[in-house]
Formats: sequence, C-alpha cells, structure tokens
Amino acid sequence: MDMNEGGRSADFDLKMMSRRYDFQLEEALGQDWNDGDQFKTILANALSIPLPSGEKLFIKSVRHYLDQINDVELKGLVSIFFKQESAHTKEHISYNKLISERRGYNLALLEAPYKSHNEYISENGDPLSLLATTVCMEHLTAIASHLVIADERWVGRADSVVKNFWLWHSLEEVEHKAVAFDVYMDVCGDRDLLVKTMDVTVGQLCKNLKYTACQMYMMEGGKPKEIKAWLESSAVLNAEDGLLKLMERYIKDFYRDDFHPWDHDNSYLIASVAAHLDDAMR
Ligand SMILES: [Fe+2]
Ligand SMILES: [Fe+2]
Repeated sequence: MDMNEGGRSADFDLKMMSRRYDFQLEEALGQDWNDGDQFKTILANALSIPLPSGEKLFIKSVRHYLDQINDVELKGLVSIFFKQESAHTKEHISYNKLISERRGYNLALLEAPYKSHNEYISENGDPLSLLATTVCMEHLTAIASHLVIADERWVGRADSVVKNFWLWHSLEEVEHKAVAFDVYMDVCGDRDLLVKTMDVTVGQLCKNLKYTACQMYMMEGGKPKEIKAWLESSAVLNAEDGLLKLMERYIKDFYRDDFHPWDHDNSYLIASVAAHLDDAMR
C-alpha cells in the first residue's frame, strides 16, 4: 500500500501516453457500484464532479508557460499531459451526466461551487498562482489515484466496468504527477507560494467535496447528517490507517523544501495497471 521513498523521474524510464477506451458505464452508474455501498459510491462519484472544470483549468495554467519551458523532454511530457487531461475532462463530463440522469441529481447545482470558482480564477487569477494551484491539485490527485490503484478499500470490490474507468484515470494521474511540478520549478520554483497554496487548496477541496457528497445523498432522499457522520467517523476513512489519514501523511511530504512528486515512487504500478486495462478493455 505504501509508496516507496526516494525515487525521481530520472530513475526510471517513463513512457507516458494517452489511452482511450470505450467505457460502457450507463448500467453500472445507476447502481451502488462501489461495493454495493451507497456512501462509498457517493464519495467516489463526488470526486468526479470538480474534474471537468478543474482539469480544463490545469491545462490552461500550464499552457500559459509553454514558451518558457526550456527542457525539450519536459515539453514533450507537457503535450501528453494536455492529451491525458483533455481525455479525462471529456470522459468525466459524460460520467457526471450519467450519474445525474441515473441517480436523480441536479448537475448544475452540484457543479456550481467548482465551476464558478474555477472559471473566475481562470479569467482573473494571476498565472503563477494558477500554476501553483495546479501543482497542488495534481499532488492531491496523485495521492488519491495511488490509493485507488493500490488500496483495496477504495474500489477493490467495485463493479468491474466502473473500477476500470477509475483505474484508467488514476494510472494517467500517477504517470503525469510530476509534469506541472517540473514546469513550476522550471519557470519559478517559489516553494513558499506552493506551501501557502496547498494550505488553501486542501481546506477548500475537503469542504467542497463533503458538501457535494451531502448534496448528492440529499438528492437521493437521504438526510445529509447521515453521510456527514460516515465521512467524519467511519473507520475506513478515519482510523489510524484509514484512507484520509494516509492521504494526510502523503500531503505532509509536500511541505518539505526538497520535495519532488517522484519521491513517492509508485512507478512500479504503471506497467501492471496498463497491462490489466489493455487486457480488460480489449
Ligand atoms: Fe486527469
Ligand atoms: Fe492530472
């Protein structure tokens, strides 16, 4: 479950690529696809809501600095990063529509806090702050993706079609986890700004995701306090080795002044997940 320590992107041969599969999610997304558990399903679905507007912002924030990247190899990785994130955006737009149709959500209401915030900062934010936000979000996404792949408690007992969808996205997030970071270091490198941005980003994201999960549960006819209690006290999330506690530990490393995303070397996951998907989605 743990990521190895001490790796750097230079230590292994990373061949990033953008993969496309025909995910047939219609049937499964109407059900409690994650372990037959309504709360676990809602939590995973909630993670999809910010992605279309968020990933669009990530692309824009990195594209702004494209001409300032001197490293040719990094420029090549950036172009694959763009392809991966645009494919994710497209798939999550359709995922979000499907869950809303099948589970009775008002999608505009669910998306509102993310969409208005992301669109506002995209238009009005300082380019460097936007890039710092992207670096922080990519770190949080990479940690969550690692757990999706490596910790059975996340989607280990999920419907296989939806599980493969999340494995696909998680695999590419792990692959490109250092790209925005390396661009940031290349064009600026201000660690203080990263740390300040992470403080704000983590707080906002936790608050918003909790709100989204409560809204979804309410739209399914439940009382928000029930899912709120699960989010705040269930062992799977909150025990000493719970998923949220593990995330906290990995987030803490980001605050070190020599941190690099491949210090968490989980590159060993890439080949096996890619082979699994090629086999399962053939
Ligand atoms: Fe993505
Ligand atoms: Fe990403």
